[in-house]
This record gives sequence, C-alpha cells and structure tokens, in this order.
Amino acid sequence: MTTETHDDSYDPFAEFDAAAGIGAVRDPYPVWARLREQTPVFAGLMSDEFGVQSMEDVLVAGGPTPYTPLTFDAVQAIMRDGETFSSAGYAESIGLVFGHSILEMDEPEHHAYRALIQQAFTRKAMETWEAEIVRPVVDRHIDAFRDRGEADLVRELLFPFPVTVIGEMIGLPTDDLPMFHGKAVELITIASNIETGLNASVWLYEYFQGIITERRAAPRHDLISVLAQAELDGQRLTDDEIIAFLRLLLPAGAETTYRSSSNLMFGLLTNPDQLAALRADRSLMPQAIEEGVRWDPPLTSIGRTCTKDTVIEGVLIPAGSPVQVCMAAANRDPSRWDRPDDFDLFREPKQHMSFAFGPHMCLGMHLARMETTVAVNAILDLPDLRLDPDAEDVHVSGLAFRAPATLPVRFD
Ligand code: HEM
Repeated sequence: MTTETHDDSYDPFAEFDAAAGIGAVRDPYPVWARLREQTPVFAGLMSDEFGVQSMEDVLVAGGPTPYTPLTFDAVQAIMRDGETFSSAGYAESIGLVFGHSILEMDEPEHHAYRALIQQAFTRKAMETWEAEIVRPVVDRHIDAFRDRGEADLVRELLFPFPVTVIGEMIGLPTDDLPMFHGKAVELITIASNIETGLNASVWLYEYFQGIITERRAAPRHDLISVLAQAELDGQRLTDDEIIAFLRLLLPAGAETTYRSSSNLMFGLLTNPDQLAALRADRSLMPQAIEEGVRWDPPLTSIGRTCTKDTVIEGVLIPAGSPVQVCMAAANRDPSRWDRPDDFDLFREPKQHMSFAFGPHMCLGMHLARMETTVAVNAILDLPDLRLDPDAEDVHVSGLAFRAPATLPVRFD
C-alpha cells in the first residue's frame, strides 16, 4: 500500500468541519417552521430561503424545481415509497466518490444487496463489538483526560471515537487509521473540491482491495472478512460492492454518530435537570438517545428523485423533480409533538425520521444506539459533570449536518 503521510499540521477535525460546512447556518429550524406553516411540501431552492450557497445549488442548477417535504406525514410517505421516490440520483453526487453503494440502489437490487450486507450486523456481532471494541475505545479516550477535571467532549471523545470504532470493526491495521480517516474526509470534500474527492476514492479503492484479497485468502473475524464470505442464494459480494460499502461507512457511520452523540450531550448539558435524572436512572438512556436524535439530527435531509407525477399532502410533485426529504423539519412538526423545539427526554417515545424510514432505513441504527449508550454512560460517570461555566456561546450549528463545534466540560 502507499505509505504517503500527512504533515503535522493536518487536522482531520478542521478538515471535516470545512468539508461538511459546519456552522454555515446556526439555527435553520425557524425557517423550516415558517415554510411548514405555509405548505407541507415547499417548492423551490431552500438555499435561497437560508441565504447560503449550498451543494444543492450546484446539483440542481439549471434543472427542475426541487421539492422539500417538511411535515412528518409528507416525509414519512415519501421515504416509505422507494419506487416513486428513487435513490438513484445519488449516483451523480456522492456516488461519484463512493461508487455504486447501497445508498443509490433501488429495488430489487437494493434488497438483495442489503440482505448480504446485513449478515455482518447481527445481534451477536453487536455484542462482540460492544465488549471488544466500543468500550475499550471509549475508555481509552476518557482515560486520556479523566485526571484533568476538564475536557472538550467533542474533540477529545465524541469526534474521534466512532472513527476508531469503525476502523477496528473493519479490521484496519492501527497504524493505518489516521491515513484512512484523512482519505475518508477527503472523499466528502467532493462538494467543494471534486479532484481531491476523486483521488481519495481511487486511493481507498486500492487500499481496500489489498485488504480484501488478503482476507479472502485468510479470513479473520473482522467486517471485511464477513463481507468477503457473505452469501445469499449463491450470490456473493464482488470486490467493487464491498469497497463501495466500506467507502460509505465512515461518512454514514462515524460522522453521524459523532454528531448525534454530541447533540445529545449538548441537550443534556444545557438541561441540567435532565442530565441529573439520566445520571440517576440509566434506564432512561434509550429514550434520551431517541429524543436527542429527534430534536437535532446529525443529518437534516436526504435526497430522492420523483419518478412519476405524485400528489403528497395536496402538493403535486412532477416526475423528474429532485426531492430534499427534510427529516429535521418532520421531527419538529407541531401536529405530532408538543413543544417540538424543546429537548425533553421524558416525552412519550414516538417514531421520528432521523434514521430515515422504509427500504433505506439506517442499517447502522442499532450500532449507533449502542455506541452512544456506551459513550454517554461513561461520560455520566465523570463526577459532577457540567458545562464549563467560563465557556462562551456553546451551540449546535449547521444546515445539512449539525453538531456543536465544541463541548467544554468540567468535572471533579
Ligand atoms: C445517529 C447515527 C445515524 C443516523 C442519524 C443515521 C441516519 C441514516 C439515514 C437518514 C439513512 C438513509 C440515507 C438515505 O436513504 O439517503 C441511513 C442509511 C444508512 N446508514 Fe445510517 N445513520 C446513523 C448511523 C449509522 C451507523 C453507525 C452506521 C454503520 C454501519 C450506518 C450505516 C448506514 C447505512 C449502510 C445506510 C444505507 C442503508 C440503505 O441504503 O439501505 N448509519 N442512515
């Protein structure tokens, strides 16, 4: 494999933020709420409403009018119907760097492929990953700052731990992790720098192909070995299919989990009564996690293309229209949730849209929940944990992806 290294000034955290456009918009919810009061499905460029230049402008420039469903019912109806609302449009955006991944597949191809991939995400695998990877990784990160009495939870734990977990699940040599991380970050710079994204895509192809060849010859217990051997009705995954999945894993699995666990910790730290309640009663953890991911999802919308003229909640979406399915707006639909803008872990649990819905519903949601449970439990064990009283203006921001840039805390 190539042994090129990044110079010392390379900071994946800064690169990731730059690539993902964190902070471009601080609070998009009032805009979504205003538009949702006017219509369940907004027609037009959302970036005009926010006054920002976005990836969407580049993708839909000169094309048909984009549609953005904003109510819970509209979002759910669209995601449920993968035949009318196709995922194939990803081939022209992120598909350029991921390859032909599960994200851009429609039925029946999607179902067959997903059934193969799912073989790597069993309950048994989850238990093994929790004990052998997630707990040790979380503990290692916390041990590095435990004695200091203060830390930035985002930079020192929540950002790096899911990447490390994915790297260990895949079975990457530890020394390769920083390089893998760097390349995976470069992949998603495609929105701003297409050449860097494409180069990283080729680099990762060659890198993974070498490992797949090794694992086909001598399987281990890691994810690549499982994928290399997965079989259904005589069908096996090709190298290309495995590589497309592996290239997707870091953005799909690590970036989302870092952001969702950071948003949850922000909700808890800014609502100390709820933090105290959860610390005292850890059985509240599942509902706290679902509330965090409803309240401020890491990824606010996903893309679809309407394949035939369809009326959703009384609005005609013409065939060929790009659709930005806004889960974040659906999650704060006041016709479904009281005080939707409040973080309240005591609310009655209800289906939210953050993990999507229907055929492409997140394949990694149980993993995300398990990782978040382990990390948040370990954080809550830090005595008298609180937001650093000297920290100024700690907040969540971002339009497409949301997270706090920093979470400075103190503990005893
Ligand atoms: C809180 C964390 C997470 C959130 C909010 C989230 C959200 C989503 C969403 C919205 C989709 C649908 C994408 C689309 O159809 O356009 C999705 C799909 C997917 N997610 Fe997650 N995800 C999370 C964590 C993970 C993790 C940890 C993994 C690791 C395996 C993962 C793997 C996937 C995969 C493979 C798909 C594609 C499924 C398909 O197309 O059938 N996700 N996720």
